[in-house]
Amino acid sequence: MSRSVAVIGAGGHAKVVIATLRAAGFTVQAVFDDNPSRTGFEVLGVPVLGPIDSLVNAGFSVAVIAIGDNAVRQRIAQRLTHMQWLTAVHPNAWVHPSVRLGAGTVVFAGAVIQPEAVVGEHVIINTGATVDHECTVHDFAHIAPGAHLAGRVTVEEGAFVGMGSSVIQTVRIGAWTTLGAGAVVTQDIPAHVTAVGVPARVVKRHPETMEDCHE
Ligand SMILES: CC(C)(COP(=O)(O)OP(=O)(O)OC[C@H]1O[C@@H](n2cnc3c(N)ncnc32)[C@H](O)[C@@H]1OP(=O)(O)O)[C@@H](O)C(=O)NCCC(=O)NCCS
Repeated sequence: MSRSVAVIGAGGHAKVVIATLRAAGFTVQAVFDDNPSRTGFEVLGVPVLGPIDSLVNAGFSVAVIAIGDNAVRQRIAQRLTHMQWLTAVHPNAWVHPSVRLGAGTVVFAGAVIQPEAVVGEHVIINTGATVDHECTVHDFAHIAPGAHLAGRVTVEEGAFVGMGSSVIQTVRIGAWTTLGAGAVVTQDIPAHVTAVGVPARVVKRHPETMEDCHE
């Protein structure tokens, strides 16, 4: 039997979330987005009904936040405290039974999560990303497509691990830090910075989160 769910966010990332939910057997009934120009349109055939706060009055209690920006995802989760957040795993992802996945987390096709990894709430494990044994990925982090975390890596809250990057074993990525695409991380990276390259070097320090690719 399929289960009904609402999706928050009407951008490109929402398309992948909707595809993942459908593949996992859910029925996506409605999309909500605070951008008024999106109301009345459809995302993969699902109607955009209105702003996010109208979701509860429309009768939805189960949802996924399909917004790639980690800070925005956090703000929405903090705003909608009574919502039940769904965890969605694509059937073509492989997640070891010992792995703990938090509420609202999505795991896309081709991702692999190995034994005893712990993944927090509202995390994105994007297409083809790998999270190896005993990693800890904290709330609101995003592991971008094709990124690889070796064993016992820690990704702190809200960090963004860029597409195709590699993080060697036991390294810690600081909270709300951005790793550029293709970075190779060989030592700990502090919080609230941007680091790029091989080996990864800090190129910017910032007090707030960086926006990433998805709307
Ligand atoms: C790092 C990134 C976030 C840009 O951050 P930014 O703060 O806007 O940085 P800038 O574009 O000002 O670049 C700063 C410097 O880093 C370099 N740089 C940027 N991205 C880089 C990367 N991925 N690898 C190597 N160098 C990079 C720039 O060339 C620039 O170098 P310079 O100072 O010598 O000119 C972006 O380039 C990136 O890699 N994003 C990840 C994309 C991704 O993973 N998408 C998938 C989303 S699902």
